Amino acid sequence: MVAGKTAICTVGHEGAGLTYRGYDIADLAAHACFEEVAHLLIHERLPDRQELEAYRNKLRAARTLPLKLIGVLEALPGSTHPMDVMRTACSVLGNLEPERDFSQQRDAADRLLGVLPSAVLYWQRFHGDGVRIDTDSGEDGTAAHFLHLLHERSQSDAHCRALDVSLTLYAEHEFNASTFTARVIAATLSDLHSAVTGAIGALRGPLHGGANEAAMELIDRFDSPADAEQGVRDMLSRKELVMGFGHRVYRESDPRNAFNKRMARQLAEEAGDMRLFEISEAIERLMWSEKRLFANADFYSASVYRYLGIPTHLFTPIFVCSRVTGWCAHVFEQRADNRLIRPRAEYTGPAAQPWVPLESRP
Ligand SMILES: CC(C)(COP(=O)(O)OP(=O)(O)OC[C@H]1O[C@@H](n2cnc3c(N)ncnc32)[C@H](O)[C@@H]1OP(=O)(O)O)[C@@H](O)C(=O)NCCC(=O)NCCS
Repeated sequence: MVAGKTAICTVGHEGAGLTYRGYDIADLAAHACFEEVAHLLIHERLPDRQELEAYRNKLRAARTLPLKLIGVLEALPGSTHPMDVMRTACSVLGNLEPERDFSQQRDAADRLLGVLPSAVLYWQRFHGDGVRIDTDSGEDGTAAHFLHLLHERSQSDAHCRALDVSLTLYAEHEFNASTFTARVIAATLSDLHSAVTGAIGALRGPLHGGANEAAMELIDRFDSPADAEQGVRDMLSRKELVMGFGHRVYRESDPRNAFNKRMARQLAEEAGDMRLFEISEAIERLMWSEKRLFANADFYSASVYRYLGIPTHLFTPIFVCSRVTGWCAHVFEQRADNRLIRPRAEYTGPAAQPWVPLESRP
């Protein structure tokens, strides 16, 4: 069902495949860094060399956490889910640095892009390791910054590039549930932080962004490819959902999967530990032969993140760190030609009934 127009992204439209502002995802994943993609989405075009340098500097400066936000991150329970931390961090930033009018929207988006990774990793390290980290990692790229804060030191170029490509793959996907949520909120002429806070809430669910964590939990249940085949066969016979498979729009394959699968294989070879990859492949083969269901973007990204040493509960937050670019682009597009989004519902309730006074009700 077409719910509106967009000039930002195609998802399998008439042979165009997945494109961001006309650029094929294969080209972006192979040649661009995530900051170029972020600039393309938020600032509407690919930057030249100088603009990219300036943009990287701007995002680096935007990583600093306001003191009051640090106080909130420390006060939140260590047992909460980091997606709830991100939702709260975004909302708190909307209090501390509100978008006063729409002319500031792109600066507010860049600030969110800088703050969100710092916020979730500050919370993670404070509650997980009992340390107060300096969120100024000095790293150029968002991916390298994320891995540095998580592991306390710079990671290899190969690892940084793997996460960087993953951020590009997750950055935008047309009118998915979280993006549509952001547009519905933006269409009331609300502020950017409200739209992104709502989008984070929508992304959290296991049928959407939460699927990468659910896929990891599934893969982790099995010790070997044979064990996985039997386990997934049993799940299918019980008509259970296998997370990381299927898609509402794609029917044959998810164009992002090939990149994630290749990266998962490379990282497994580099680690000298193919177990996770082979279990994943066994599940993928079985899902295709039994159900004609293909792996979506979330399935192999789970293995990629595991090989990068990222704890499972941070998988969906990484999706946020990336998709915030797409959400913001859609908010701006909605604002530029706004009409309140107000669908109608088909009524399925009772027919008109006579009023029954309180004392006469059975
Ligand atoms: C993404 C998703 C919500 C799309 O749902 P959808 O468009 O309603 O899927 P379809 O209606 O085309 O499904 C057709 C059939 O395949 C089944 N199916 C779809 N995805 C399945 C999965 N991941 N595992 C097992 N069965 C699945 C459906 O139950 C349905 O079976 P039925 O005909 O016996 O009722 C669904 O595939 C899903 O829940 N996937 C797992 C979660 C996930 O990975 N989400 C991330 C998406 S990017």
